[in-house]
Amino acid sequence: MEDRFGHRISYLRVSVTDRCNERCAYCMPQELQEWLPRAGILSYEETLRLIRIAAELGVTKVRVTGGEPLTRRDIVDFIRQVGRIPGICDVGVSTNGTLLAREVAPGVTTASALRAANVRSVNISLDTLRRAVYAQITGRDFLPLVLQGIGNALAAGFPQIKLNTVLMRGRNEDQLIPLIDFAASRNLILRFIEMMPVSTTEVLTERNFLPVAEAKRAIEARYGNLIPEPTFRTNGPATYYQIAGRSQRIGFIGAMTNLHFCESCNKLRLTCDGKLRPCLGSYLEFDIMKPLREGAADPELRQFFLDVIDRKPQQHDFRENYQPNRKMIAIGG
Ligand SMILES: C[S@@+](CC[C@H](N)C(=O)[O-])C[C@H]1O[C@@H](n2cnc3c(N)ncnc32)[C@H](O)[C@@H]1O
Ligand code: SF4
Repeated sequence: MEDRFGHRISYLRVSVTDRCNERCAYCMPQELQEWLPRAGILSYEETLRLIRIAAELGVTKVRVTGGEPLTRRDIVDFIRQVGRIPGICDVGVSTNGTLLAREVAPGVTTASALRAANVRSVNISLDTLRRAVYAQITGRDFLPLVLQGIGNALAAGFPQIKLNTVLMRGRNEDQLIPLIDFAASRNLILRFIEMMPVSTTEVLTERNFLPVAEAKRAIEARYGNLIPEPTFRTNGPATYYQIAGRSQRIGFIGAMTNLHFCESCNKLRLTCDGKLRPCLGSYLEFDIMKPLREGAADPELRQFFLDVIDRKPQQHDFRENYQPNRKMIAIGG
């Protein structure tokens, strides 16, 4: 699947829920959340069918996300089935990490169950190592659980674990070095992400926006020039660097300030309520649940995918003062 601008689509991000056990201000509104009704969410069977069709069209990698995907019942079985779809050779999960340590059977954590279900990579959100600040950012005092979850993920032996840190001036700029050291001591990839305007709350302001270039300068002030690694890629939009003398990798996701950000985009998103979104930073979305539930045959759904790809924009429109009408939590980060 290739769009008009030469983006080759091989990566499907699948959001399985709009629900979450945390309340990150940059992701969801703070007022009481109205979740989608169950009937408005794609069943696992429906989702697997759509992934199978995407795989027939060239998708090889799926990342399961949300909301918090690990809050959905039977998620591990679903993920195992995703990995069995012909053509899908890489399954990842994005999680806030709070439920990785939960036991699903005596002596079996969710982390190890995911690994046994053939998950290759886990992305875990971690914006700070300060417990009080973590509770402020996420609305929940779950940092100890997340740290335990990271430990369980390490013990489970995933080929790749990444930590994702959303940069926020005044909240976590003092955490860049502690997070780097935390990641280094555990051999984890760490990525710093610019905050994007995807919440309905007024979170992205000039005051709290911290550009990746500034974070990079602060890191270089401590560790010397970072060494670019232009050939290292993880399927996502991060550019990676190494600290001299360390094998550790640090990624920067400059969604707002990197003008070439969209050039290598290989992604398509499926929301939990059955919308295909060709770009996170665009209002465009196409309701594939409707034809699916009206009994569309595979060729019709395949054509639906191709039509959506054809509408994939050249680049996101966040920079043009974009005001989205949906929240990140509902789209799937
Ligand atoms: C929406 S979350 C879903 C998965 C899981 N609940 C988690 O927190 O990792 C996926 C990623 O999007 C990031 N994210 C959410 N809102 C964001 C925003 N406004 N700007 C940049 N990244 C954001 C989160 O930090 C997280 O790393
Ligand atoms: S970023 Fe993840 S953990 Fe935070 S509210 Fe959004 S879905 Fe939940």
